[in-house]
Amino acid sequence: MDLLEGILTRRSVRQYDTTRKVPHEDIEEILKMASYAPSAHNKQPWEFLVIENPEVLAGFRSVQPWTSFAKNASCVIVVCGNTDEAFHREKENEVWNFADVDCALATQNLLLACHAKGLGACFCGAAPMPLVMDGVKKYLNLPDNIRPLAIVPIGYPAETPKQPENRYNPAKVHWEKW
Ligand SMILES: Cc1cc2nc3c(=O)[nH]c(=O)nc-3n(C[C@H](O)[C@H](O)[C@H](O)COP(=O)(O)O)c2cc1C
Repeated sequence: MDLLEGILTRRSVRQYDTTRKVPHEDIEEILKMASYAPSAHNKQPWEFLVIENPEVLAGFRSVQPWTSFAKNASCVIVVCGNTDEAFHREKENEVWNFADVDCALATQNLLLACHAKGLGACFCGAAPMPLVMDGVKKYLNLPDNIRPLAIVPIGYPAETPKQPENRYNPAKVHWEKW
């Protein structure tokens, strides 16, 4: 699949064929693609938690209410940022951390890789919502320095979402000055 075509045709897929499992080789290839994302200072602070246990998949809705369809996925990949490894600063007058930005980029690579392999996936948000993050951390027993950014159900598609109208809006582009 051509890269530009893939970017244009990727859609969030929320219905999956429950009779088919995504092979581990494919999951590993998808995670390899995610790991080639750019990251601040090239810190690559992402960590991936792959979950296939159907009971755990079904329980995601208890900590993130918009993930009910995860119960029918072949797996969920939770994309997490390691806040110690990420490019960050913690000074009196300056506090910032690039973990979320880096993990969002890795997640987009992951979504595009799924699409290229004929798989369906959907970005379900965690960070920066404090209640959701706390719930996910407790649910999955994540260490303190691990910040869940995205919960991504993946499976063979059982729906073909409509392609959107043109999303490119030239009015949002500001040439030379605002
Ligand atoms: C940060 C973020 C959080 C999202 N959270 C959810 C979610 O919790 N549940 C869901 O079904 N979709 C979620 N989505 C998917 C969006 O609804 C979807 O990307 C948007 O409607 C555009 O559709 P498309 O992905 O098919 O282009 C999320 C997307 C992003 C980027």
